[in-house]
Amino acid sequence: MRRVAGVMTGTSLDAIDIAVLQIEQTSGSPHGGHIRLEGFFSRPFEPALRQDLLNLQARGHDELHRAAVIANRFAEAISGVVLKALKELGLHSSDIAAIGVHGQTIRHQPELGYSLQLNAPARIAEATGISVVSDFRSRDVAAGGQGAPLVPAFHEAIFSHADECRAIVNVGGIANITWLGNPLLGYDTGPGNMLMDAWIQRHAGKAFDQDGAWAATGSIHSPLLEAMLKDDFFRRTPPKSTGRDLFSLSWLDALIHQQGMGNITPQDVQATLLALTAQSIAAEILLLEQRALDSCQRQCERVLICGGGANNAALMERLTQAIISLAGRPMPVVSTATLGWPPQTIEAAAFAWLADRTIAGLPGNAASVTGARGPRILGSITPA
Ligand SMILES: Nc1ncnc2c1ncn2[C@@H]1O[C@H](COP(=O)(O)OP(=O)(O)O)[C@@H](O)[C@H]1O
Ligand SMILES: [Mg+2]
Repeated sequence: MRRVAGVMTGTSLDAIDIAVLQIEQTSGSPHGGHIRLEGFFSRPFEPALRQDLLNLQARGHDELHRAAVIANRFAEAISGVVLKALKELGLHSSDIAAIGVHGQTIRHQPELGYSLQLNAPARIAEATGISVVSDFRSRDVAAGGQGAPLVPAFHEAIFSHADECRAIVNVGGIANITWLGNPLLGYDTGPGNMLMDAWIQRHAGKAFDQDGAWAATGSIHSPLLEAMLKDDFFRRTPPKSTGRDLFSLSWLDALIHQQGMGNITPQDVQATLLALTAQSIAAEILLLEQRALDSCQRQCERVLICGGGANNAALMERLTQAIISLAGRPMPVVSTATLGWPPQTIEAAAFAWLADRTIAGLPGNAASVTGARGPRILGSITPA
């Protein structure tokens, strides 16, 4: 058994999440042995650090200096959360073989050959006394892949089932889908919570729309929804990945402006953004199911939702309805909690698992997902 930790901070910039896993080490099975979630902790971002990280997502003055200084503050915050988590679990640094630290994505441009995660692994290793695995995406990008999503291989390791055909959808800031099949497929479907978060922040000063309650007070604006769904990203064939570089408030503002919809109410925009997330996910589930029906006559029997979006009741309901109207039949749409994995633990757990793969000298990417030339051992190791 090896104990590893994973630290994830996604596009939402809501919290620093840490998961501690116990992974049984076996050489026989392709995904390794049994994986047990030993602990999970989440600490909200300190607002000033969050804002500085957000500002780095766009071009700005003296970026290199700012990035270096902010990376160090970020690493200190991460180290603090790691040490707190160890204390609560009654563990010592020496009990953890490695921490996989994803880092904060500040630019994701695989077409230009890079995906940049702000991080300071040396600082984290120094402060925690634990070896750090970082920079998980660069190797996949160097091998011609998108460097994203990296979670599908972990989804396969914990959720694949011989008798049931399953899709997993992670609804974080961006949403990504995993189709558990042969080959394993997965890609970003588009915005998850990010645009809804940004819109409610602008109009009501809130970090997110609790349970989609504000969206529920508005109505879907069909022309806006159609205009959004016309974005080239939704038509692109996978592999594909996206981020704040594309789906931002300026993207939304430009569409509202272009369509001459200046008088649309903020609530209607929120309802339409929620529908965009649901509709774009449902469309991909149906597309992947059609592929599976063509190749192996399997229907999707269960859709598992993880990420913060799984807590948004209105979104879960809208997604269930969107699937029914596209598929002509209901499909169970349930949180991964139903299988013993609380929805917000999965991404951090994935980076713990990926760190375990790295230190074991095993590949972490799924080339059928990212489009890389082949399986690669991911990440850089900073020894304790
Ligand atoms: N109860 C809830 N109702 C609505 N949205 C929620 C709820 N809980 C979490 N979220 C959403 O989930 C987001 C965080 O999801 P997460 O999976 O951590 O994303 P990321 O990986 O981008 O950090 C929040 O920003 C918020 O939009
Ligand atoms: Mg998060």
